[in-house]
Amino acid sequence: MHMELVVGAWDFGVDVVCRDAPHLVIAHGLAADATAQSACTIALTYLELAAPSLGLGTCWGGFFGAAAMFWPPLQEALALPKGHVCYGTAMVGRPKFKYHRLPARNTPKVTWA
Ligand SMILES: Cc1cc2nc3c(=O)[nH]c(=O)nc-3n(C[C@H](O)[C@H](O)[C@H](O)COP(=O)(O)O)c2cc1C
Repeated sequence: MHMELVVGAWDFGVDVVCRDAPHLVIAHGLAADATAQSACTIALTYLELAAPSLGLGTCWGGFFGAAAMFWPPLQEALALPKGHVCYGTAMVGRPKFKYHRLPARNTPKVTWA
């Protein structure tokens, strides 16, 4: 996850973890529930799709999610319900930029069988 770059950016005052977002949505579910991880990913995906209609922007919180998964002090601070695991996070805020067209995308590598 290029953590050395993340830490280096932080030292220069650039927050690539939460992007200075005012809000963070945490999707969590029971570790014992085999469907919880997919449900959380689907929920955050719908959040991402719905946000612009409310004038909001989102960004997936992969770095925060990894810390919530593996770093006990953050798990303690989050105080999720017993048996729950963080399966994804999304930063939410007012977008700084307005896009007038879709950003250019690389052609996906798709193999049709
Ligand atoms: C699973 C996942 C986790 C991500 N985690 C972060 C993150 O922690 N911080 C961040 O700034 N962007 C994060 N991103 C956003 C990527 O940086 C973003 O998708 C990339 O800049 C390309 O953006 P675009 O697809 O809108 O062009 C994440 C994206 C995904 C799919």
